[in-house]
Amino acid sequence: MDEIKISILGMGYVGLTSGMAYAKHGFKTVCTDAIASKIENLNKGIPPFYEPELEDLVNNMVNKGMLSGSTDNIEAIRDSDVTFICVGTPPLPDGSADLTAVKDTAKDIGTVLKDKNEYHVVVTKSTIVPGTTEDLVLPIVEKYSNKKAGQDFGLCMNPEFLRQGQAVHDSLYPDRIVIGEFDKKSGDVLERIYSGYDCPKMRCEIKVAELIKYAANSLLATKITLANEFSRISEKFNIDVYEVMKGVGMDFRINPMFLGAGCGFGGSCFPKDVKAIVALSKKIGVETPLLDAVLYTNELQPMHFVDIIKDTVGNLDGKTIAFLGLSFKPDTDDTRETRALPIIEKLYQEGAHVKAYDPKAYYKFKPLTDLPIEYMKSWKDALKNADFAVVQSDWQEIKDIKPEDYKTLLKNPIVIDGRRSYNPHDLIKNGITYRAIGWKNLDD
Ligand SMILES: NC(=O)c1ccc[n+]([C@@H]2O[C@H](COP(=O)([O-])OP(=O)(O)OC[C@H]3O[C@@H](n4cnc5c(N)ncnc54)[C@H](O)[C@@H]3O)[C@@H](O)[C@H]2O)c1
Repeated sequence: MDEIKISILGMGYVGLTSGMAYAKHGFKTVCTDAIASKIENLNKGIPPFYEPELEDLVNNMVNKGMLSGSTDNIEAIRDSDVTFICVGTPPLPDGSADLTAVKDTAKDIGTVLKDKNEYHVVVTKSTIVPGTTEDLVLPIVEKYSNKKAGQDFGLCMNPEFLRQGQAVHDSLYPDRIVIGEFDKKSGDVLERIYSGYDCPKMRCEIKVAELIKYAANSLLATKITLANEFSRISEKFNIDVYEVMKGVGMDFRINPMFLGAGCGFGGSCFPKDVKAIVALSKKIGVETPLLDAVLYTNELQPMHFVDIIKDTVGNLDGKTIAFLGLSFKPDTDDTRETRALPIIEKLYQEGAHVKAYDPKAYYKFKPLTDLPIEYMKSWKDALKNADFAVVQSDWQEIKDIKPEDYKTLLKNPIVIDGRRSYNPHDLIKNGITYRAIGWKNLDD
């Protein structure tokens, strides 16, 4: 294997940003997807989702011939030396991960390896619970290829830690790389791919790599949840939870990240991954009271936010609300598990009407609900003649709204902030009634 060629199966947030990074590090990379329109666009240099700075980099790599798209898994695997499985692993109703796409791609890989003489390394990058690579992917590839892992082909698990909204930075400059290896030869190939990445690398057993991803996401979800729980305690003392968490985060053992209280965590990873590890633990007879509580608190928090809204403005019946931010967090168009959905559903149950604005996520949020939400083209249109404003995700564009704009466009100068998007004092001194999760009620 002189020059390593890479194929990536599944061109979502993980597949495409990783593919772009491998291409930038000098590896010819083909990304495949089951959705033809995504591939057509990729080959024109257009990514299928929004992520800051991604479009220019993708365009550049496509123009240089280092990155391309295909709908043909078989051909892409055949023409490469290393295949990364990056398909989605969405949650099933019992919380466990749906592994259909992982199985399908493993079958495609086995089918190709049957007639391929060159050594090929199979890498699972999708988030999968311990045992999935060796007990599911390996037997499928062996069955369809009639070959043996560790002998005829290599096998690794390489969990992905990128943050949506910062996916370009994280895939080019990860803070660590974990290589779970079936055998040394497989791991050596992956280490070669990552030789140009300047960060600590950890090599371990495949199951360890799989579990690291769940433990990391569970810890981050727990940190956020702790801040959320303390936001409710802080409110009772009429103190600012952000001030409390600033003091907490100054401890080097803790650090200030993921201590911002808000209306709960969403996205395609934390909720799904915590549910999946809880579901697996139940199956293997391990109790998870801490993670059960994390999931429970995360459902309470959006409802608590609605309580803050009601405390501030009273009865919501007949009220029109300017709702700012639909994505699960800023700088992404991803709306999977966004807290905007349970909040808006509850606002409608209370008789309110919502005029919503998001810089990028409108088209992914709209299919999630049939509620008669008015989707506005700008935050100005959302604010115009609304009774008050609610902020759910703190895009920079939303953080840049001036107190004057709130005052002139809203019927009542009231801002209720689910993400601490503003310095409360700036709004208050400009005559705005400001409420937020974990913030002091200065009217008391
Ligand atoms: N999104 C994140 O921030 C993130 C971070 C770390 C890990 N992960 C994990 O990585 C995996 C992928 O996540 P994502 O957010 O990129 O998913 P995604 O849903 O955005 O993308 C998955 C893609 O796979 C494609 N696909 C499905 N079946 C296929 C097949 N048989 N052949 C080719 N393509 C196929 C889908 O069409 C889709 O475009 C998941 O397991 C996720 O948990 C995600």
